[in-house]
Amino acid sequence: MTHFLALETSCDETAAAVFTDDLAVKSSVVASQTDLHARFGGVVPEIASRAHLRNLLPVIDEAVRKSDITLADIGCVAVHNTPGLVGALLVGVTAAKALAVALGVPLVAVNHVAGHIFACRMAAGRDIFPCVGLVVSGGHTALFRCDTALSLTLLGGTRDDAAGEAFDKVAAILGLGFPGGPAVEREAAAGDPKAFAFPRAFASDQRLEFSFSGLKTAVLYACHGQDVRQATPPPPGKKRADLAASFQEAVVDALAVKCRQALEQTGLTRLAVGGGVSANKRLRAKLQAVCDHAGAELFIPPMSLCTDNAVMAALAVEKWRLGQFAPPDLDAEPNFL
Ligand code: KG4
Ligand code: ZN
Repeated sequence: MTHFLALETSCDETAAAVFTDDLAVKSSVVASQTDLHARFGGVVPEIASRAHLRNLLPVIDEAVRKSDITLADIGCVAVHNTPGLVGALLVGVTAAKALAVALGVPLVAVNHVAGHIFACRMAAGRDIFPCVGLVVSGGHTALFRCDTALSLTLLGGTRDDAAGEAFDKVAAILGLGFPGGPAVEREAAAGDPKAFAFPRAFASDQRLEFSFSGLKTAVLYACHGQDVRQATPPPPGKKRADLAASFQEAVVDALAVKCRQALEQTGLTRLAVGGGVSANKRLRAKLQAVCDHAGAELFIPPMSLCTDNAVMAALAVEKWRLGQFAPPDLDAEPNFL
């Protein structure tokens, strides 16, 4: 049996996991930087890189300790090298390369977006491919045709903001703090999702694309009017809850419509959803309804596997089986290729 050590440092979570080539997870450790970025209302790339530098070795130590093996038992090192913040990715990539050389084992590079889909495979405990994959995070909102874990074809993505980014920005407009997704979801629980008629971009055509920038502006204007120079967040109360609920409903509707169309257009009968926004309960309920109606099976991992972690890098096992190892000069690639 081969043990894998996987590292994730693409954004603001420092994570390490140990798993085996039969996909049994031995340990998973995630150190969140949320507190460091909260007062800036978003992830500050330089702060993220420095925090990864501080946190990575203790996180690796803890992951190895909890797995009941030693570093010497690791047979392969895996790392997310794309996409993400380049400085943040570099910390994980550099550590992974050094570990692979020091241990004399192969290195496997994993795409973080494909990893979010693979998290569904890890949670399901069985094969989920072929499927339609939806990745909804702070950095990405895209639909894929996933013929296998490693062959993803982009069906369409966002033209501007990612859905999670829109949640974070609307949370700032509403004075709800960072990270915005969970805060907006909590506020929305007391609001009326029909109070404001916010736009659902591309809902009436067949393009598998998203746009959340206009929606964000619509929330801003509904909140403050069009003169936003003196804008201060609205006080807690009915209007704020209604804005949160109506915004959340618009995002969820836009995502659900495109998932329904992607299932129809591809003829596939499985939908796998990953990324931080898939923690949203309203989204989960709507996607379940879409799948029930389409006779499709829905895969969404538990909360701990929705947001960034290193277990999702178990996609490395598939590449390792195929001998797809990374070169010793592996680089961090910030853009999704
Ligand atoms: O996948 P992730 O942990 O990091 C990235 O790769 O971006 O996703 C983080 C994003 C943030 O924008 C956060 O606001 C959003 O996921 N998020 C949520 C919820 N929990 C996290 N959005 C909506 N509802 C939630 N419950
Ligand atoms: Zn992510």
